[in-house]
Amino acid sequence: MIGLGIARRAAPDPLYQLTHRPASYLRELWGANRSVGSLARLLGRPRSEIAGYFRTLLTTDAFYSRIAESEARLRATGGGGTSPGGRADSSSEILYILVRVQRPETVVETGVALGYSSAYILQALHDNGTGTLYSIDLPTTDPEGRVNADGVRDRVHVRSASETGAVIPEDLRGRWRLTLGPSNPLLAQLFESLGPIDVFFHDSEHSYENMLWEYRQAWPRLRPGGLLLSDDVQWNRSFPEFSASVGAPAFRWFGAQGHRGAIRKPVGPA
Ligand SMILES: C[S@@+](CC[C@H](N)C(=O)[O-])C[C@H]1O[C@@H](n2cnc3c(N)ncnc32)[C@H](O)[C@@H]1O
Repeated sequence: MIGLGIARRAAPDPLYQLTHRPASYLRELWGANRSVGSLARLLGRPRSEIAGYFRTLLTTDAFYSRIAESEARLRATGGGGTSPGGRADSSSEILYILVRVQRPETVVETGVALGYSSAYILQALHDNGTGTLYSIDLPTTDPEGRVNADGVRDRVHVRSASETGAVIPEDLRGRWRLTLGPSNPLLAQLFESLGPIDVFFHDSEHSYENMLWEYRQAWPRLRPGGLLLSDDVQWNRSFPEFSASVGAPAFRWFGAQGHRGAIRKPVGPA
């Protein structure tokens, strides 16, 4: 019996797995943890609720291990690590929390690559028991990446279009609708076919013009109280300018690979 007890304690434990992640990841995670208070204020929800979602994800063993399995499959065929951006990082934990709190029916994202952000959003929808994620991605298959309209190179790429979303665990895909092609004009076309949306997340081409265009497309489609989220808001002035133009305060959080931002659409007359 004692032996059995020891065997049980020795079985993989989610917190054990976390503590065996690189120190840089743990530092980021600590940063995200410290954002709990700011998130609670942005969302007007108790700290304990935000912290609870955070804890749920961290102890959802199945999520991290299934992502790791997908990564191992990619690595086995020479892929995965070829994408320097978009790996799992703590700023995506905040993405998960935002989707848990918001309990959205409809989430729209642009920019998928291997699908880390999509996986976090889909896990949150799964845990909420409701909602669909609509994603748009124009796959970059050139290993050098793509130069955007501002002349800045984004090196994130996949080996083939079919690798888009490759890390998303199979059992989360039932809530996922992917369209391949440029966000402009596909995003406008998608919005035509959807009712009001609850969450929008930009992570496609980070040129000033495209970011502003996507934010402007999404804002009127967001229901009051809905969230406009954006990755890499430090690339240009589009996010702070947009936030000022709609008169809504922005929240920012920081990951290893960039800054993310959130703007909550005011409830009541704007
Ligand atoms: C930074 S990656 C997305 C990372 C992903 N959100 C994550 O967190 O794992 C950007 C993606 O947007 C795609 N992309 C670039 N320009 C685009 C455009 N104009 N429309 C749609 N997708 C685009 C790229 O090919 C790439 O797959």
